[in-house]
Amino acid sequence: EKEPVTILITGAAGQIGYALVPMIARGIMLGQDQPVILHLLDIEPAAEALNGVKMELIDSAFPLLKGILATTDVAEACEGVDVAIMLGGFPRKDGMERKDVMSKNVAIYKAQASALGQYASPNCKVLVVANPANTNALILKEFAPSIPEKNITCLTRLDHNRALGQLAERLNVFATDVKNVIIWGNHSSTQYPDVNHATVSTCRGQKPVRQIIADKNWLDTEFIATVQQRGAAIIKARKLSSALSAASAACDHMRDWVLGTRKGTWVSMGVCSDGSYGIEPGLFYSFPVTCAKGQWSIVQGDCAPSTIFMWCMINLRNFISSSIVTMAGLKIDEFSRSKMDATEEELKLERTLARSCLNTQL
Ligand code: NAI
Repeated sequence: EKEPVTILITGAAGQIGYALVPMIARGIMLGQDQPVILHLLDIEPAAEALNGVKMELIDSAFPLLKGILATTDVAEACEGVDVAIMLGGFPRKDGMERKDVMSKNVAIYKAQASALGQYASPNCKVLVVANPANTNALILKEFAPSIPEKNITCLTRLDHNRALGQLAERLNVFATDVKNVIIWGNHSSTQYPDVNHATVSTCRGQKPVRQIIADKNWLDTEFIATVQQRGAAIIKARKLSSALSAASAACDHMRDWVLGTRKGTWVSMGVCSDGSYGIEPGLFYSFPVTCAKGQWSIVQGDCAPSTIFMWCMINLRNFISSSIVTMAGLKIDEFSRSKMDATEEELKLERTLARSCLNTQL
């Protein structure tokens, strides 16, 4: 039998936590052969509810669950963890300014970064779910220098899955028939759900979504808006924000990261930019990634000879006209470029705001 993996879940007494812990304990995140130990963290006012979750986990007698720690002590919670799922955060309440929410959350992520850096296992993989997810991840990276930057990610898989779901509904096919959509940028309403490289399986093989859905207008307007605003639509319907789909997406994200993506398929993950696609290095931005051997890498084009040829031609032309040299990558048209830039701009503003919040807290 494999050694158990220790998984930290912060904010475990909350909504997503309640949906996520049974999924993990049933092996949906790390596999049916992987025993787990759960470290559940929440804050003092939620301590009793947290203990209730622990009681229900005991009552479920999950075969893969080899230990449960429920605590309000951050250091104890982070001790020896191999995977950290960060759901804990301060929700936006009526009348609160954006800056106030940001200020509360970056303070939490700064404190938890230090605890993870000090007590977690050196190769701990971190997934930030709590909003503002990308900026929380950025703060976590800045205050946990001992955690490799490639081990810190944030969740945009829910948006990715929502895009797959919308296309499958429209085409009246299964979600598994659609693949390779991309969520670019921030987990916010400026995110850009891109279908330009997405395909659908048909009886005549894989076809580009753009070829199968002829209604360009729907793809360029309604589809994008529906995915961007799906979170708000769920709140309106449920009077509560997405929880089961968020928990399921967190499992998908970690499973693919640890166990690898399927051949020919990529997924969206918020990761620290290395400058790919012209996105400022250091920003946490959602990119298309493939994963193998526990590592993600940003998709850099399909390397078909025709793509390489095109890339050389474009760079040659750019070189001659002395403009910026294009990165080798998926082809990005002007429409996509402007949307990718807009969401990058928002992330830069969030970073400025987050840093100013931390400075005033010093
Ligand atoms: P929730 O409010 O039900 O649960 C949050 C939990 O965090 C609460 O139990 C709270 O006591 C706890 N908490 C607050 N401060 C903490 C701290 N310093 N340490 C540990 N725990 C702390 O919220 P819900 O619905 O479970 O959502 C969790 C987060 O995920 C929210 O920030 C939400 O906006 C975000 N979210 C992100 C999505 C994504 O796709 N990235 C999708 C859906 C939600």
